[in-house]
Amino acid sequence: MKRSYERLLQGNKNWASEKLKQNPNYFKDLAMGQNPECLWIGCSDSRVPANEITGTKSGEIFVHRNIANVVVHTDMNLLSVLYYAVEVLHVKHVIVCGHYGCGGIIAALSNKDNGFSNNWLRNIKEVYDKHSNELEAIADPKERENRLVELNVVEQVMNLAKTKIVQQAWERRELQIHGWVYGMSDGLIKDLHVMHDEITDLSPIFRYEL
Ligand code: CO
Repeated sequence: MKRSYERLLQGNKNWASEKLKQNPNYFKDLAMGQNPECLWIGCSDSRVPANEITGTKSGEIFVHRNIANVVVHTDMNLLSVLYYAVEVLHVKHVIVCGHYGCGGIIAALSNKDNGFSNNWLRNIKEVYDKHSNELEAIADPKERENRLVELNVVEQVMNLAKTKIVQQAWERRELQIHGWVYGMSDGLIKDLHVMHDEITDLSPIFRYEL
């Protein structure tokens, strides 16, 4: 049996030759540059591949993924991706996409010690704490977990809105931010309708004078 990494290299060869068969210029065209209209901030979970679940092709989505799709305002990685996507690529939409059954959410909901990851999961515990009244009123543990998945997306969309990068793009009327949740049991994405395209949706304390 092939080792798993060898399977990936073989799979790549097959994929590349298949693409060339369909379009001899496929890679030549891609090499010309990218012009994606969306930035996707999703979970690292192997079951939530941005392009595959949205039926999009290479070049259509700029992607950032981390455990439980969290937007942390001191995360140099995320901020660099966001800045580049908005200021250089001029994406029109930023989408935070969580997913039901998220291991990060499940871990944050428990009191287990998750080692170094505690520091990252802490962001989700803060979301729980902020919405504890609503969450603790939900008797069914699975339903409570699902609701935290949704509330986490809503909070991360708000965290995006709190950045100068997004507020500046709003000034230019160029950007919308969205919150979605992917359901692994049916393959469908639910739009939470937390779309924002202007600063008035944000508490005054977070608004910059630009
Ligand atoms: Co996840």
